[in-house]
Amino acid sequence: MSHLSRRLPDSRMLRVLLGGLLGSVLAAQPVRAVAAADPGTPPATATAATTATTAVAAAPTPAGTARFAGKVAIVTGGSRGIGRAISETLARDGATVVVNYSKSTAAAQQVVETIEARGGRAIAIQADISRIEDVRRLYAEVQQQFGRIDIVVNNAGILPPVVPVEKETEATWDAVFGLLKGTYFSMQEAARRIHDGGRIINLSSSTTRGWSPGYSIYAGSKSAIEQFTRSLSRELGPRGITVNAIVPGLTDTDMIGDYPPALREAAAKGTTLGRLGQPRDIADVVAFLASDEGRWITGQMVVANGGLNP
Ligand SMILES: NC(=O)c1ccc[n+]([C@@H]2O[C@H](COP(=O)([O-])OP(=O)(O)OC[C@H]3O[C@@H](n4cnc5c(N)ncnc54)[C@H](OP(=O)(O)O)[C@@H]3O)[C@@H](O)[C@H]2O)c1
Repeated sequence: MSHLSRRLPDSRMLRVLLGGLLGSVLAAQPVRAVAAADPGTPPATATAATTATTAVAAAPTPAGTARFAGKVAIVTGGSRGIGRAISETLARDGATVVVNYSKSTAAAQQVVETIEARGGRAIAIQADISRIEDVRRLYAEVQQQFGRIDIVVNNAGILPPVVPVEKETEATWDAVFGLLKGTYFSMQEAARRIHDGGRIINLSSSTTRGWSPGYSIYAGSKSAIEQFTRSLSRELGPRGITVNAIVPGLTDTDMIGDYPPALREAAAKGTTLGRLGQPRDIADVVAFLASDEGRWITGQMVVANGGLNP
């Protein structure tokens, strides 16, 4: 198991997260919650409050029918989780979607097949977004194949181990800030190539909204993404291009797959709507910002976290 694949909070961070980050909901019984957090415990039974459909509806939205017809979208990290839902949603509403991925070739191909089976258009392009040369190749290939780029979703992300600052490593820093660097240069390529009136949407995280013990490097990189978003929105506004960031809360994907049930339950209870976010919850916000209906929103951090009370 690689260093960065161990995302599970260490026992001290788990205690801090359960007792502090998730706040008043857990304050009454943090010790019991931690005691239940055995990684070997099967996932908690889903309740009505914790379930939400993950599937992206196959039919076009009533508002949109084909609201992205003729548009070309790049979704970085489009092969899994939130990126997959974004890819399928944009394609459902008419966009030709470039499903970028780094390692998960089979998953990316499956997204393309799903889109095509529903009558949409998509291709998968491998590019490691933490490598600037890959980022430039990705955009060049899209431009060459489709002749235009209208929507860019900078979604690729990694969550490093949740540990206190004193246990952080240079390897974690390099991995997370390496991806941040590539994401910045993805924004640069987008700024150079995107069609006037286009849309750039970046993925931040609700860890930027609290003090987030254990997430210093991750939250720091997402805070940078938020500032890149604001600056770029001012630069591209004169061309009618909007640039926004979405700020999701805990969302049920592989990224949090090894979070113990107690932490997932606590996160669900910490939202106003009483459940974890689903990829589709985020994809629908992306689609709104990418659509004509979102034209008056730019330079904004759009919080989509079910009313998380940090
Ligand atoms: N899940 C959450 O609770 C949550 C909350 C707030 C914000 N977010 C943010 O939302 C975004 C999506 O998260 P997720 O939960 O969907 O993650 P996920 O399920 O782990 O999927 C991550 C995606 O990013 C891709 N990726 C990772 N590194 C890459 C690289 N160097 N180059 C290209 N693609 C790369 C992965 O593709 P490969 O498998 O091919 O590498 C995969 O498609 C991330 O930016 C994350 O930080 C997530």
